[in-house]
Amino acid sequence: MFPTCQASSTLYGTKHMPGFVEVAKKSQIPANGAIGVEVQGKRLALVNLNGEIYAIDDDCPHEGGPLSEGTISGEEIECPWHSSHFNIKTGRVTMDPATEDVATHRVRFVGDAVEVEI
Ligand code: FES
Repeated sequence: MFPTCQASSTLYGTKHMPGFVEVAKKSQIPANGAIGVEVQGKRLALVNLNGEIYAIDDDCPHEGGPLSEGTISGEEIECPWHSSHFNIKTGRVTMDPATEDVATHRVRFVGDAVEVEI
């Protein structure tokens, strides 16, 4: 289940850089956990790694597994479908069967709001 976010950069006028959209509140992302969100038709996994928030695509490059439902260990997340591992900070695949890295997105904060560059 993915909470949807209707935010778009146009809602925030010109005070914010184009391309960043609010996707969640920081307080919604559990410590050393992840949530899945959908914004502008794209599924993202938001990961709270020791208080820092990272955004990666929520579609495993192998067969589309929901990485937001994966297991976090250190700086890696394990896909719940076939156990590929990815570095949360870089998106680099570190264990097959996936052979491609997962896309990462820049994150910034406006108060408690988490904004991701789409
Ligand atoms: S879908 Fe992620 S490892 Fe297969």
